[in-house]
Amino acid sequence: MLTKTKFTKNDKLVILTGAGISAESGVKTFRDSDGLWENHSVDEVATPEAFNRNPRLVWDFYTARFKQLQNVKPNPAHFAIKKLQDFLGENLTLITQNIDGLHQAAGNTNIIEMHGSIADSYCNKCRRRITTVELITNLDQGQSNKCTQPWWFSCEKCKGQFRPNIVWFGEIPHHLDKITRRIQQCTKFLVIGTSGTVYPAAQLLVLAKRFGADTIGVNLDRPENVSYIDEFHQGKSGKLLPFLVAEWTS
Ligand code: OAD
Repeated sequence: MLTKTKFTKNDKLVILTGAGISAESGVKTFRDSDGLWENHSVDEVATPEAFNRNPRLVWDFYTARFKQLQNVKPNPAHFAIKKLQDFLGENLTLITQNIDGLHQAAGNTNIIEMHGSIADSYCNKCRRRITTVELITNLDQGQSNKCTQPWWFSCEKCKGQFRPNIVWFGEIPHHLDKITRRIQQCTKFLVIGTSGTVYPAAQLLVLAKRFGADTIGVNLDRPENVSYIDEFHQGKSGKLLPFLVAEWTS
């Protein structure tokens, strides 16, 4: 027996996931290489200032991330969450800090992508949306035509610049009102694969605890905010979650 927790179909569950849940799919977590992210500091590639300074570098970085993500697949942790959704239906809300789309690929719905998604981009002036695949295809065609204009990230309608739909440091995460409402109503809060160091995401666990939810955590290391977790399981989510979900729902 791994767990004392039991779920009923009436439980309202909010799940918060972070980079750790995708680690076993081969996606690197953010804080696993001396504060560098694929050899770049966060300030160089993941702030609005970085984009204003050097949009080309930022786009090169996210183009590489986008291409890497085309080859990754959900792992047993993502599928275990899908099983939980099959059990709880609409009573499960899945909040993710990840931009990789792996929860969708595992079949989950009812997902709130609080840090955005690499799948889409938008113009920073007129807010027109475009899929990132369309931008990248334009980029590849431009390079093969030896095009020297940076037309691939410039909006032909308003001359603004396309940027990835990713919440950068210093920006406000998406859907905070909806997230707060769901946490106010939840009976259980499950946090998986996140270091508990990036705010406001790290505060959601604290909020859930204050509103009276039972809190559960699954993480490789002890997260910064572990003191707010009632039942903590230390280890890899892809190994632990399939067993935990089976016990929670039996
Ligand atoms: P981090 O890289 O900060 O933390 C990943 C966490 O996952 C760590 O606590 C690891 O111990 C844990 N972990 C690693 N492998 C695991 C596994 N197989 N199973 C379970 N846990 C595992 O990533 P996040 O907390 O998600 O923001 O980072 C939060 C935000 O900071 C990201 O969304 C991103 C980042 O910079 C933006 O881009 C705005």
